[in-house]
Amino acid sequence: KTIDELGDLRGKRVLVRSDFNVPLDGTTITDDGRIRAALPTLSKLLDAGARVVVTAHLGRPKGTPDPQYSLAPVAARLGELLGKEVPLAGDLVGESAKDTVAALGDGEIALLENVRFDARETSKVDAEREELAAELAALADAFVSDGFGVVHRKQASVYDVAKLLPAAAGDLVLNEVRSLSRATTDPERPYAVVLGGSKVSDKLGVIANLLTKADRLLIGGGMVFTFLAAKGHSVGASLLEEDQVETVKGYLATAEENGVEIVLPTDIVAADSFAADAPHQTVPADQIPDGKMGLDIGPASGELFGAKLADARTIAWNGPMGVFEFEAFAGGTKAVAQGIVDATANGAFSIVGGGDSAAAVRKLGFDEAGFSHISTGGGASLELLEGKTLPGIAVLEN
Ligand code: 3PG
Repeated sequence: KTIDELGDLRGKRVLVRSDFNVPLDGTTITDDGRIRAALPTLSKLLDAGARVVVTAHLGRPKGTPDPQYSLAPVAARLGELLGKEVPLAGDLVGESAKDTVAALGDGEIALLENVRFDARETSKVDAEREELAAELAALADAFVSDGFGVVHRKQASVYDVAKLLPAAAGDLVLNEVRSLSRATTDPERPYAVVLGGSKVSDKLGVIANLLTKADRLLIGGGMVFTFLAAKGHSVGASLLEEDQVETVKGYLATAEENGVEIVLPTDIVAADSFAADAPHQTVPADQIPDGKMGLDIGPASGELFGAKLADARTIAWNGPMGVFEFEAFAGGTKAVAQGIVDATANGAFSIVGGGDSAAAVRKLGFDEAGFSHISTGGGASLELLEGKTLPGIAVLEN
């Protein structure tokens, strides 16, 4: 169901699950992409005269109120972006929440305090989640699921509540699922996937699935050193998951059998330590000196990756190529971003997924319009690329 199919919403209380899990520096939001991405759905509901009650999480508090995870900075930023006040209830389903919802007029919006301040939200016990879902449902007449970044979680405010109210997918969730499906279902070829980020172990499922789907897999980021080790190269003091080396050897063999090209960097920026100002040099990827740690792919690799992206028709990118937060180690991520922008300008359909790569794109100054789709989902977009069914989506379909 879409929002339009919920019928006339004037005067109706609509509970919206958003993903406002934004990076914070103290109480300052350093990237508000996820809040901006929620605006189309919220504006649509407000324009329809709904009384909008938003529930969201921030971070991973331990199931109890914790001021450092308060949604107060989000309420303030959301209010600025919407150009109207967004009151923040002092709790989730208690007296403050009830009063805040009761005070809403048509076309007004309020935010409930962090849903993960209640341990029932993430409980593995169905009855506990269902109890919280019932209390959330009592605050509303309809439910809109719009927190794409969290639809892979079977949690009370994502999954259970959708069974208790007339429920619809919000515009963000619809748009994300439609865009990601272009890569996961019958992608136009060549289909190239760029994977980075620190750990292979976070991406095992997605790599296994891509070895049956993609034409090319370009690997960078911290995880590349486990690939280089699997090729028999020494990686110095770089990040290495020894226990994944055999798995990666298996991937390399499967790739060869399936005709999937695995593209690894040919050069690496190797530093003396993990620091923004660490002395560093570019070395061949198979000759990382003892004691040096690779913090980025090198310039020749950036060119190689750009060339491997140039003729792709579908591109998915998840995970930075290096420690892009440090200027000296941002070159590889910039080169890949530029390669994808260039390919997109030539007609490729491109998806950037994962909170880190989306934040990298913005931080490095790229225009978001240069990519076909920038996903707000980290784990959720990976799980879709992995071919999994996501509980928060499945519950809307049933
Ligand atoms: C995310 O940041 O990927 C989502 O908000 C989900 O957060 P979680 O991994 O803590 O469930």
